[in-house]
Amino acid sequence: MDKFIINGGKTLQGKLEVSGAKNATLALMPAAILASGKSLLMNTPELNDVFTMIKLLKHLGAVINFSNHILTIDTSKIVEFIAPYEHVKKMRASVYVLGPLLGRYGEAKVSLPGGCAWGPRPINLHLEALKKMGAEIDLVDGYIETKAKKLNGANISFDISSVGATGNTIMAAVLAKGTTLINNAATEPEITNLVEFLIKMGAKIEGEGTKTLTIEGVDELNSVEIKTIPDRIEAGTMLIAAAMTRGKITLTNVDAGLLRAVLLKLESAGCKVEITEEKIELDASDLEINPTNISTSIFPGFPTDMQAQWTAFMSLADGTSTVCDTIYFDRFKHVPELVRLGANILVNENIAMIKGVKELNGAKVMSTDLRASASLVLAGLAAKGTTEVLRVYHLDRGYQKIEEKLSSLGADIVRVSGKEY
Ligand code: EPU
Repeated sequence: MDKFIINGGKTLQGKLEVSGAKNATLALMPAAILASGKSLLMNTPELNDVFTMIKLLKHLGAVINFSNHILTIDTSKIVEFIAPYEHVKKMRASVYVLGPLLGRYGEAKVSLPGGCAWGPRPINLHLEALKKMGAEIDLVDGYIETKAKKLNGANISFDISSVGATGNTIMAAVLAKGTTLINNAATEPEITNLVEFLIKMGAKIEGEGTKTLTIEGVDELNSVEIKTIPDRIEAGTMLIAAAMTRGKITLTNVDAGLLRAVLLKLESAGCKVEITEEKIELDASDLEINPTNISTSIFPGFPTDMQAQWTAFMSLADGTSTVCDTIYFDRFKHVPELVRLGANILVNENIAMIKGVKELNGAKVMSTDLRASASLVLAGLAAKGTTEVLRVYHLDRGYQKIEEKLSSLGADIVRVSGKEY
């Protein structure tokens, strides 16, 4: 298990290219199952979650080549319909194979994901939607076993907007018989990227990017090429890194339109933000951090995947702010670790009250999940002295070589490998 050693206090400066979006890639990859042939995914990030999905797709029989951020997935010989526990326990997004396998082959057996690092994350909505489309679903020995000779279109209305349930349902519906209507579909850009891919493949989907999707099933789809959208969460994380170190950075390969809520909050906090075509420049050279409240919500609201990083940022604000997570009530595992670095934060239910402190001080802290770990790295970059972030394998799941990217901007951060961390 590797750790990061960060000598804080270095001002970040320079230009950085943002990678392709993890959560888009993790939906696009299983979607390739829906056609027979070679799909090409451009701008694919090199992340451990992507490697886990590669292993899973290979296990199903796909032939995969990955170089230079181009991922080729050949699905001509899918022979297996089981997503084993060993893959799903590593990465919940493995459940994304459920919809495509069921839609194309009429059967799928997927290990039921347990809770995650910060609490329960059910998949009842995925299963209810598939049931409505005519799938038989049983839970056997910890596995969801699903079968359907042919799925039928259905009217599906989600009580909660869910990225995963929307993705799975769309993927099941594109080859179903008849029309599927999805109400309260997730409008996150990663889902829109998936819809764009499926339409290119020949799927008939209306309502792209809206809460109402109409999908008319077709007999077959063709393998095509798609470009993964830029990772808005990596972009937001890097902007906060620059803000916390009073730096000035320019991000390239980025889509500011996908990050509007975060950019507006960065401006409220006192950062100067400039947007040009495919670039975002943030200048925090003379920043006095204004306490700025956020409340997470579905797209285009402030993303829950940026909540931990914002909490770290506000711990250095000139006053008190609140951070409320309305998507995941328990997603506050980073707070006790930030407190170890000197932050003053109290959590009450799903709201963190953050009293800004003058400075953070280096300490050993423990990563618990991906975005919590990112917040610790940010705090370490701004802290006085040395911070050790243990268990950085969480970061490797979702940030491509974050330490190299931060070093290229002037951060003093190194990875140390060793069993004991
Ligand atoms: N929910 C249910 N039942 C379900 C599905 C979801 O109650 O069947 C609830 C969840 O408990 C949560 C809300 O609905 O309260 C939204 O969850 P959603 O299904 O949208 O989350 P997800 O699809 O499991 C994706 C991202 C997460 C991100 C969330 C919210 C991927 C692979 N993961 O998860 O990303 O936090 O959407 O935007 O796309 C991350 O990248 O760090 C990460 C956790």
